[in-house]
Amino acid sequence: MLLGGMNKVFIQTYGCQMNVADSEEMFAHLAARGAVLTDKLDEADTVLINTCTVRDHAEHRAVSFLGRLSAWKKEKPGRVIIFAGCAAQRLGKALQKKYPFLDILSGAKDIELFSETLDKSGLFGMPGESIQPSTPNLTGYVTIMRGCNFACSYCIVPSVRGPIKCLPVEDILRDVARKTAAGAKEIMLLGQTVNAYQEGTVSFADLLNRVSEVPGVERVRFTSPHPIFFTPEFLNAVKDNPKIARHVHLPVQSGSSKVLQEMKRGYTREVFLEKIQALKSCGFNISTDIIVGFPTETEADFQQTLTLVDKVQFFIAYCYKYSPRQGTPAAQMELLAENILEERLDILLNKVRGLSEAAYQSQIGSVQEVLMETETKGRSSENFWVKTKNTYPTGSLVRTKIERAEGTLLFARD
Ligand code: 5AD
Ligand code: SF4
Repeated sequence: MLLGGMNKVFIQTYGCQMNVADSEEMFAHLAARGAVLTDKLDEADTVLINTCTVRDHAEHRAVSFLGRLSAWKKEKPGRVIIFAGCAAQRLGKALQKKYPFLDILSGAKDIELFSETLDKSGLFGMPGESIQPSTPNLTGYVTIMRGCNFACSYCIVPSVRGPIKCLPVEDILRDVARKTAAGAKEIMLLGQTVNAYQEGTVSFADLLNRVSEVPGVERVRFTSPHPIFFTPEFLNAVKDNPKIARHVHLPVQSGSSKVLQEMKRGYTREVFLEKIQALKSCGFNISTDIIVGFPTETEADFQQTLTLVDKVQFFIAYCYKYSPRQGTPAAQMELLAENILEERLDILLNKVRGLSEAAYQSQIGSVQEVLMETETKGRSSENFWVKTKNTYPTGSLVRTKIERAEGTLLFARD
């Protein structure tokens, strides 16, 4: 029972940035009940594990961490373990059977009920008035929508996170204002298909522009978008707003139109390339995710992925081996041999290895606005790391020319 005494919480977050934001949100509810954060597991009274299930490996890591907590809990039986997020959603009550020492299970769909879940457990006090003073973060993560309305055949997200729910504009702007008041200069808008946002007449582009007008906001980023929502109307609405960062993480998944269709992605290779061209012409730097070894991927399909990478010259490409997820349509299909997956991943990783360095080199001679994250280092709008010659206050914007690049660091003249 943690009522009364000091409650130190250790948080372990797996998965995407949505999860990072969700962990913050869950911690706020714990903090309202007197909890403080610790980065030492030994000292903690409560552990919050926020989990991912997008690939088997991610889920496995979270569950093994939970397994290892058995000894931690035995040391002091009053300790509390909370298992939350996407793997919690997928595995459900079966987990509590296998790990009887688990106190609270809270699936990704239940984040809005987290406060109630804490109260129902009887393990924490009632929430007080003041939510913890947030630690000043340069980047404020703001969830604008939850869930996903697509049905990509490999993906478990729609089933663990449910259909799209967009948050009201006023709530989002209030959250942004709260984050800037606490010191945030950059706002990262989050959603599974973030650019599908639509609330009444307010489109995603409108929202970006509105957020950028909140006092204190220097830069707005967002992740992860879906290619089909990058329309000419979107680009028109944002192209003259320099506060909207010129970087998008745009998962392509495959370079083959046939595989894209079997993945039910909703676009072809050609359409994706058109979107890229339009984004690049507005100055956007593009990173991506790629899956190799989807069940129907032939050698020729894989070659198409390689040529797409050559064409687009992504800033970064995160590459994954296909991982079958129970209950998804693709999980019914026959898997390719593991050695084929490994070989293709290897070839792709070799291809993408030099991409970032090349992108960094391409910045030499350009003038960039750097948002300082330390006194001598910050990020450009296009998301390149820049080292300055002089020192500046964290959070300031420095306009400077790039002199040289070393690996994945730019050096400014300033
Ligand atoms: N297998 C492998 N990778 C996957 N991703 C999503 N589902 C799977 C899966 N079943 C990848 C996609 C997505 C990223 C978050 O994870 O590339 O963009
Ligand atoms: Fe993982 Fe997807 Fe859940 Fe994010 S939303 S934690 S990527 S399963």
